[in-house]
Amino acid sequence: MPYRLTIEPSGHELDCDSDETILEAALRHGFNIPYSCRNGTCATCKGRILSGTVDYGDVEEKVLSDAEKAEGLALFCQAMPLSDLKIEVREIGAAKDIQIKTLPARVAKIEDVAPDVRALFLKIPSTERLQFLPGQYIDILLKDGSRRGFSLANTPNDDALLELHIKKVVGGAFTGHVFSGMKEKDILRFEGPLGTFFIRQESTRPLLMVATGTGFAPIKGMLESLFAQGSIRPIHFYWGVRHAEDFYYESLLQQWQSQYSHFNLTKIVSQPDSQWSGPTGYVTEQVIKDFPDASAFDAYICGHPDMVFSMSAVLEQAGLNSEHIFADAFVFAK
Ligand code: FES
Repeated sequence: MPYRLTIEPSGHELDCDSDETILEAALRHGFNIPYSCRNGTCATCKGRILSGTVDYGDVEEKVLSDAEKAEGLALFCQAMPLSDLKIEVREIGAAKDIQIKTLPARVAKIEDVAPDVRALFLKIPSTERLQFLPGQYIDILLKDGSRRGFSLANTPNDDALLELHIKKVVGGAFTGHVFSGMKEKDILRFEGPLGTFFIRQESTRPLLMVATGTGFAPIKGMLESLFAQGSIRPIHFYWGVRHAEDFYYESLLQQWQSQYSHFNLTKIVSQPDSQWSGPTGYVTEQVIKDFPDASAFDAYICGHPDMVFSMSAVLEQAGLNSEHIFADAFVFAK
């Protein structure tokens, strides 16, 4: 028999099966609560259990600590009900009416953009349209039943081709194929759009955007969308990579810098060679050096979980309330 789940402060009520996560139940009923990875990695779905008990699922201490469990927190993408529940989480209206679809897509173009990054451009059938919010992701569905999540790097305005940035992972079943066997005209299947990493349009606050590596992909979609809308919210974008050659889309970035005076770009290299003359070190340190008081921003952060967690913590210490921090933490899909 399903348990009763109440979402506060909205008061929405729904059924949640005993073998279903809280997130699955919410999405099944059309209630959009924050999530990204759906596998217990990113902490985006962390929320409070106000009453009732849950099976916390398989969660790592660094993503949800025992102290946080004792405080009443849970990962809603992992937690399953053991009783009727009341939870506290902010529902997100923006993606509510966007339909998640499973579609085929043809590989239209493959471009090498950095030594170990390929941009993959996918064409969906002309009878279909994929509505999404810039920054969301899709899951590529593999024949063995597994999935690989990639952010959409394009905007819905140029919906002819979906753009993914794929980082090569040695031994990766899918990314290995992208770098060796994949050809134009190959057919893939995907599910999407997914996730709640997208610009909160209701805000007018200046934007602090932080990415490492291919975390640039969703940020690119967000930036193109902001520019297309004519938004004049000040944007400070920090992009960190290991080696200078890991940066890509240089001419696009230069074009944005010359065209938009409210767009400020800082590129940081953690392992520079003698040619690199820009900032060095970790992106988190550079951001906080430039903005010791971060309280006025909306922050959008995308990259490895370690960077995302430390950047979020540092921004909170710098006065930014967590409700203004939006993050997409990912480990490279294999
Ligand atoms: Fe739950 Fe990522 S940890 S969505």
